[in-house]
Amino acid sequence: MAATDLERFSNEEKRNLSLGGHVGFDSLPDQLVSKSVTQGFSFNILCVGETGIGKSTLMNTLFNTTFETEEASHYESAVRLRPRTYDLQESNVHLKLTIVDAVGFGDQINKDESYRPIVEYIDTQFENYLQEELKIRRSLFNYHDTRIHVCLYFITPTGHSLKSLDLVTMKKLDSKVNIIPIIAKADTISKSELHKFKIKIMSELVSNGVQIYQFPTDDEAVAEINSAMNGHLPFAVVGSTEEVKVGNKLVRARQYPWGVVQVENESHCDFVKLREMLIRVNMEDLREQTHTRHYELYRRCKLEEMGFKDTDPDSQPFSLQETYETKRKEFLGELQKKEEEMRQMFVNKVKETEAELKEKERELHEKFEHLKRIHQEEKRKVEEKRRELEEEMNAFNRRKVAVETLQSQSLQATSQQPLKKDKDKKNFFSLPSACSITSGRHVN
Ligand code: GTP
Ligand code: MG
Repeated sequence: MAATDLERFSNEEKRNLSLGGHVGFDSLPDQLVSKSVTQGFSFNILCVGETGIGKSTLMNTLFNTTFETEEASHYESAVRLRPRTYDLQESNVHLKLTIVDAVGFGDQINKDESYRPIVEYIDTQFENYLQEELKIRRSLFNYHDTRIHVCLYFITPTGHSLKSLDLVTMKKLDSKVNIIPIIAKADTISKSELHKFKIKIMSELVSNGVQIYQFPTDDEAVAEINSAMNGHLPFAVVGSTEEVKVGNKLVRARQYPWGVVQVENESHCDFVKLREMLIRVNMEDLREQTHTRHYELYRRCKLEEMGFKDTDPDSQPFSLQETYETKRKEFLGELQKKEEEMRQMFVNKVKETEAELKEKERELHEKFEHLKRIHQEEKRKVEEKRRELEEEMNAFNRRKVAVETLQSQSLQATSQQPLKKDKDKKNFFSLPSACSITSGRHVN
């Protein structure tokens, strides 16, 4: 359909037609109710408050049952989230209730990071739901939705003001979950102090920009009660599972030496107001707000972080397919860039190694040449020595031959002329050459 057709269609006035008889679509709400009842409901409550503030007792009082409870120690090194799921049934309505306790909250010396595990838990539940939504084969119909629908923030009844831990934690949580602040153990604070405490808390929340859950006033049926209840926040509650006889009735109350605090007595505390608002009137709105406001915000931020957009830079609609293609191209481009960088790095490394090897080869060659020169020099010297020795040997041999010749001559002469022999002998020893030979050999 062209854009102009669409405009014309939407501008066209809706025509009211009267039906000739009963068709049956007035049963649609009943169909919806029947379907929801069959399917059952899930509701998830997060309890944040100091150890021993009365979280478990209040949960037991709210649902009029005894959930398994385990006292937390005051020595937890960090805040830990402990979810527990129960199947409850009232009339024919099934409720899968999850109560999540922030165990060890407020017990650490350094409380700077106390909010972090809580935020992470809430985000993890959103992430699980998003992953289920993004699956090709989704099963949201029977998916156990663990997203936190409400956070009951237990304020210690000091009568002074909120602690900085309360303000920081609520500020970190307010964009992720519906917060209902409650003053716990309200029986420990006097009526006038409680009134002032409530005003102080609300003004501190406003001045610190903490957004708490406001009971909706857009539905006429509940607008009046909800707007009245918004004025009673934070609810001052008392919890007890003990039953005490008041008059001739057994009521849940806390009994003291001076009297009885009745949990369900509106002039004693706001427990009934909390139960009405949380369970009877606004449970569905809390679930809806979680889905349409908090989860939507998480989903949007997450998808934007992943690079998905609804419009392109020229504010034109941008489909998921186009986003996918752009992302794919970006990814391939980056991959190519990385590949090129790695290739370049490899080439540089090879070049460096090659240069190093060449340098080593040159050094070795120089060393070899040097050794070769030394060797040749040595060889030359040895050769020279050998030549000298040979010359000496030759000279020696020559002298030896001369001496032998002379000796043989003298022997001959002796045999012929004994007298002459003596004379010749004398002459021989007086020969200058013979003297020099003898002295020369001696020197050598
Ligand atoms: P952890 O789970 O151990 O952190 O404690 P919790 O916050 O669940 O507190 P729990 O409900 O176990 O209560 C701790 C103590 O406070 C018990 O002795 C309760 O009886 C008492 N208590 C609970 N609610 C109230 C209340 O409204 N007023 C008073 N005065 N005491 C309460
Ligand atoms: Mg507990």
